[in-house]
Amino acid sequence: MLGLRDLSTEMLESILDRTESMLPVVRGGVPFPIPARPAMIGLLFLENSTRTRCSFEVAASRLGHQPIVLTGRGSSLDKGESLVDTAANLAAMGLDALVIRSAIAGGAGLVARNIGIPVVNAGDGRHEHPTQAILDASTLRARLGSLVGKRVLIVGDILNSRVARSNIHALTMLGATVVLVGPPPLLPWTFAEFGPGVEVTHDLDGVLESADAVMMLRIQLERDAGRAVASDYRFAFGLTVDRLSRLGPEVPVLHPGPMNRGVEIDDAVAADIARSSVLEQVARGVAVRMAIIDRALEFPAGGF
Ligand code: CP
Repeated sequence: MLGLRDLSTEMLESILDRTESMLPVVRGGVPFPIPARPAMIGLLFLENSTRTRCSFEVAASRLGHQPIVLTGRGSSLDKGESLVDTAANLAAMGLDALVIRSAIAGGAGLVARNIGIPVVNAGDGRHEHPTQAILDASTLRARLGSLVGKRVLIVGDILNSRVARSNIHALTMLGATVVLVGPPPLLPWTFAEFGPGVEVTHDLDGVLESADAVMMLRIQLERDAGRAVASDYRFAFGLTVDRLSRLGPEVPVLHPGPMNRGVEIDDAVAADIARSSVLEQVARGVAVRMAIIDRALEFPAGGF
């Protein structure tokens, strides 16, 4: 699972269906059947993470498998060892699958081509964050039903966002129109080249009332995006209480986290239980990662 760009709609639907079957386990009512041979799932996290890392750990544990976590700090990557050598050493220890987050666009794919176990991309630089987009799609379907013909606004630092890229692929595959909204330095017109089903605008207020759902993104300071935005960013692109009042009452608000309250999203908007889907996204994230680990282990040679 390296990205959604080349995934078929059929495969995406199949993962979404398997996600639904995992939700009762996540919500605590039903244990997952104990596997005959518990697998070792390596989690190689070379960028900071709260949600993705912990939810992969929870997902592996809920499936009855053993997560093994290695982070950049404290590993021999600090001594100059390469990403591929690090991953190859973990695979040589007998791990059954490897989940990777790194700052290198294409990093997970590079590793997958060099080791013989399934690899899951948990975010690779600006490239893709497929499990995030699948959990976003799962959350949106739970709130809106079919996504065919729905307009989903993705607002913020699109340029640096792997979440936006993966969501463009997932949501358009499911029949939605994705409206990308952000300031010109963080949303070049070239994003329109993603093709049919993708619109680009720098005018949030001009498209707000057409939205069936709104996904807010933070400015990625770790990718130097802070220098590209003006100090009045919130007034042009923040989801304020006033803007929330102009959305339809059923329009869900999503955010992949971490939220920068008072910048892209106001405190009161994040706290609006009827609209905010943020914690529902997190719960579904565990179910998506369970579905993906479970499926990956059915294809031990890495052919997802
Ligand atoms: N959404 C997401 O990727 O969050 P983390 O960086 O905390 O994993």
